Amino acid sequence: MTKISEEIINDIRKKTDIVEVISRYLPLTKKGKNYFGVCPFHDDHSPSMSVSPEKQIFTCFSCGASGNVFTFVSNYEHISFVEAVRLLGNKLGYNLEHSTKIENPHQKDLEIYKLATKFYQNNINTVLGKNAIKYLEDRKIDRETIKKFEIGLAIQKVSLTDYLKSKNISLDKMIELGIANNTGNDIFVNRIIFPLYDLSGNIVAFSGRIYNTKDSSKYLNTKETPLFKKRQLLYNYHRAHEHLRKNDYIIIMEGFMDVIRASTIGIDNCVATMGTSFTKEHANLVKKMTDNIILCFDGDAAGEEATISAIKVLEEIHVEPKIIRLEDYKDPDEYIINKGKDAFINKITNAISVIDFKMQLLRHDKNLKDINDISLFLEETLKELTKTKDEIVVELTLRKMAQEFNINYDTLYQKYKQYDQTSKVNRQDNQVVVKKNDTSKYQYEKAELSLIYYMLKDSDVINIVEKKVGYFPTPTVRYLSNEIIAYYHKYGQINEADFISYISDKEELKPVISNILSLDSRPEFNKEKTNLMEIDDYIASINKYVKNKKIEELEQSLGNESDIKKQLEIINEISKIKGVKVW
Ligand code: GTP
Ligand code: MN
Repeated sequence: MTKISEEIINDIRKKTDIVEVISRYLPLTKKGKNYFGVCPFHDDHSPSMSVSPEKQIFTCFSCGASGNVFTFVSNYEHISFVEAVRLLGNKLGYNLEHSTKIENPHQKDLEIYKLATKFYQNNINTVLGKNAIKYLEDRKIDRETIKKFEIGLAIQKVSLTDYLKSKNISLDKMIELGIANNTGNDIFVNRIIFPLYDLSGNIVAFSGRIYNTKDSSKYLNTKETPLFKKRQLLYNYHRAHEHLRKNDYIIIMEGFMDVIRASTIGIDNCVATMGTSFTKEHANLVKKMTDNIILCFDGDAAGEEATISAIKVLEEIHVEPKIIRLEDYKDPDEYIINKGKDAFINKITNAISVIDFKMQLLRHDKNLKDINDISLFLEETLKELTKTKDEIVVELTLRKMAQEFNINYDTLYQKYKQYDQTSKVNRQDNQVVVKKNDTSKYQYEKAELSLIYYMLKDSDVINIVEKKVGYFPTPTVRYLSNEIIAYYHKYGQINEADFISYISDKEELKPVISNILSLDSRPEFNKEKTNLMEIDDYIASINKYVKNKKIEELEQSLGNESDIKKQLEIINEISKIKGVKVW
């Protein structure tokens, strides 16, 4: 296959109107400058995808899908970027060899799961489904909810395997997909079936719950397959994602029944880990959605353990969640059933901070009427507090403690300072610097993405970045910035849509560029004019981070250096960096 030149790619793009092309696939309605449509890349119910005729770019504010006309066609048709260029080029009369349509290798499998879902849904609506419906109604899951979550039923009398055979699906395929076992029988028998969705809302597995038997396992899941990996999946992610616009927070629960219950009271921003612990993969998924994360695990000791470990996982990626504890109730499902919507909303509004949660834990095994226990509690809390980076949290917590135990604030503060010093001394010098850096780390990541966003919109920003940013600390962002600068030098201008073609073969840039394009849907972005002061702030926080990092490295090498002359050189360099100007 011959390579298509950049000129031809850009030419095809310019002669092709993204609005016209997307309209061939789905209806678009004009609102203001842009067009809107139901996004085909996730289970969208309202038009979440916007198409800009001006920029020739589409972005979905719900699932984050974004790109130029080639990206759209390539994703929609499940063909490569180059195939999409050929397809659109050939329509314009270019002769770019034959473009063959390549099917998504999983498309067929997804169809089979859909068929199976319809089959199960049909069962629950027949007379054979009477008991299952009664079970669900007793649990206050009404018809509307059954429909919304596509809940169905597997019954002994009607075999899914037989049904799929009649649709020409081979037994091997059914075994591969976890629908049939090796002897050709259904995996799910006499269970209420909950389809499990992937991040885009495709059904990729089932979970079956017993309802009229005493089987040993309450739930049975489809085995793991390439499409279904529990540690990477959050139940209801695709819907929760859509509701972020209305309410910018996400609640993480253990069971999908909890998520379904929350939806019955109009709270759709919930996802479930489905019993598995909250993994690093889960953490990254939610971080991508929003900064406002609320952990609402079961009320029992296991739920408390799960909360503690989820806090740790989130800490590693610099996310500080809020926490809801349900005290006497087993899980969100039971809490909502017993206490109602307002009480649960109240829980959300009053979700507690990590330090408050940890203080609750520290209280557990103590009698806070006993002087010794009080003193131990204060000591443990103050030590815990030295880990907090937020000075306001420190002050507020100290004030609360002072009030509760009727202790002078200054006394507590002195004690806190003392622990804070000790913990600093105990730690290595460089670790203290690392801690200082961490605070700005969060900021610099946001600053990096924001800067790139504006570089793609406004070539003035490219010039400013070239002059003022030493370098971007995150390798993929640095790579992207270098590509933008190279593109700008080559063409003398920046065109977002063509730039997307320009980097289309660089797989490693895809996640970051999609993150950046999706900023367009955030109201704080997408302003008519670039705010240069804002740009300066971003640059300052990046440079500050880089500077601290450099100091940290130098201080470390200072510690390892025994030669006095070299030590002096390093000290000299450190003070130079700490001085007025760095770059
Ligand atoms: P209900 O009892 O129907 O209210 O479910 P629950 O949401 O209260 O379930 P629980 O808190 O016991 O478990 C949370 C999640 O763990 C469930 O959503 C399931 O995904 C998973 N789970 C629970 N029990 C089992 C089991 O026996 N087998 C498997 N594979 N998963 C389970
Ligand atoms: Mn439950």
